[in-house]
Amino acid sequence: MQLYTDIPSLRDCRAQWHRDGLNVGFVPTMGNLHDGHLKLVREAKRYCDKVVVSIFVNPMQFGANEDLDAYPRTLDEDREKLAALEVDGLFLPTVATMYPKGLAEQTFVEVPGISDMVCGASRPGHFRGVATVVTKLFNMVQPDHAFFGEKDYQQLQVIRALAEDLSLPVTIHGVPTERETSGLALSSRNGYLTAEQRTTAPALYKHMRALATELAHGDRNYAGLSEKYTAALNASGFTTDYVEIRNAVNLAPATRDDNELVVLIAAFLGRTRLIDNTRVTVT
Ligand code: PAJ
Repeated sequence: MQLYTDIPSLRDCRAQWHRDGLNVGFVPTMGNLHDGHLKLVREAKRYCDKVVVSIFVNPMQFGANEDLDAYPRTLDEDREKLAALEVDGLFLPTVATMYPKGLAEQTFVEVPGISDMVCGASRPGHFRGVATVVTKLFNMVQPDHAFFGEKDYQQLQVIRALAEDLSLPVTIHGVPTERETSGLALSSRNGYLTAEQRTTAPALYKHMRALATELAHGDRNYAGLSEKYTAALNASGFTTDYVEIRNAVNLAPATRDDNELVVLIAAFLGRTRLIDNTRVTVT
């Protein structure tokens, strides 16, 4: 596995792969890799001749009072995991490489509408930071295929819209969420949970599945379902940010005519904000 910390050496390697007619898969991450991230890498290996992973904790997508400084950084372990999977390139840009002028003067990319709802409403500027860094990373790595987790469903839809709207020559793949046997979605933020919160956390999945079952059985009272499961989560010990039933593509509030739905949930355990989602097809 080759390490790249600067853009020219990455570009040289990419150009050689292009000359050799090899297609390139890309998995952007912020590190602290777990089996969810590694699932994306395995999927990329299946599709592509060469796979590049990036690790960059992107300051532009963190709000002023979010966990940028505390975000877990475990580079040695991450490198070992990626080398074991025979990843071809690991891109480790510094903040100065990504944002040489600083954040205030950085050109940004914003996907309107979808960026401002659900998680975007709770985290102003977050999806602008994600869209900007992913666009920059795409321009540096120039992948043919890029892999994102369904775990961050809104992020995946923002990136799909971005790639389509800007005619980017990359195919976006969504990869199903990797879960513990308890149902809890793997997340770097699970590491912040206390032992007691850890035993509560799987209830998020349980309530989400129950809500999805009611939807699949034809209950279209979205507001009533949202209220019911907000109360259920709160009774289980969460402080619920939202329980939303949305159109699975553009994330607009679901209407009675929508058949492809997604349930999006964000809920706090103490100061840790957990998110999860599940798609539901209603016939
Ligand atoms: P990060 O949180 O490190 O996640 C990197 C990728 O792993 C994302 O596509 C995310 O959806 C996926 N992922 C996380 N947990 C997963 C799970 N349990 N199952 C499947 N996939 C999972 O998301 C980001 O970083 C950043 O916003 C980034 C896209 C890198 C831009 O900075």
